[in-house]
Amino acid sequence: MSGLSSKIQMAIFASGTGSNAQKIIEYFNDNPQIKVGLIVSNKPEAGVLNIAKEEGIPSLVIDKEKFFKGNAYVDELKEKGIDFIVLAGFLWKIPSLLIKAYPNRMINIHPALLPKYGGKGMYGSRVHETVISAKEKESGITIHYVDDLYDHGKIIFQAKCAVEENDTPETLAKKIHLLEHENFSRIIEQSAKNIVKT
Ligand code: GAR
Repeated sequence: MSGLSSKIQMAIFASGTGSNAQKIIEYFNDNPQIKVGLIVSNKPEAGVLNIAKEEGIPSLVIDKEKFFKGNAYVDELKEKGIDFIVLAGFLWKIPSLLIKAYPNRMINIHPALLPKYGGKGMYGSRVHETVISAKEKESGITIHYVDDLYDHGKIIFQAKCAVEENDTPETLAKKIHLLEHENFSRIIEQSAKNIVKT
């Protein structure tokens, strides 16, 4: 745990609207052990940054060159006392340097049942379009540890939902978001608590 705070400090990385980030922030609001200490985004106009502002949580907009060719922000995150990283709709691949700095301390949520429908370019509505085109009968969410490959690390949790014949990428996205909002914070809590024991 960081020396800067007795709570486990968590950073949420997000590129978009941040509905998951919002739920996570609310869930950990009064948590005695875990705190959302930082919101990180690669997009200065991302909705998640407004959420950070409204919730009074510090934020950091990262620079592509520095992220991929510099120190991947490892020093900054360590200086800010970040112990655990949650990817909640983060678009960029995480550099090895950062993954190595947070072993078993970085988790991602993916809007499909991995190992299917993951990998480069599989993000947001692209995933749902592909699932529907493939005439899958079910889809769902996967929460997993992050490793050097896209959407590949050890799976922690999955939940399923039906894909009906009349589902569109939009209606499926709604079902998936519901599953994410219902489950992600609880799984984060379990995984983050584990790091105290290691
Ligand atoms: C979520 O559905 C998440 O699973 C997905 O982006 C969405 C972000 O929504 N992540 C990926 O596709 C990662 N490959 P949000 O901004 O409303 O939380």
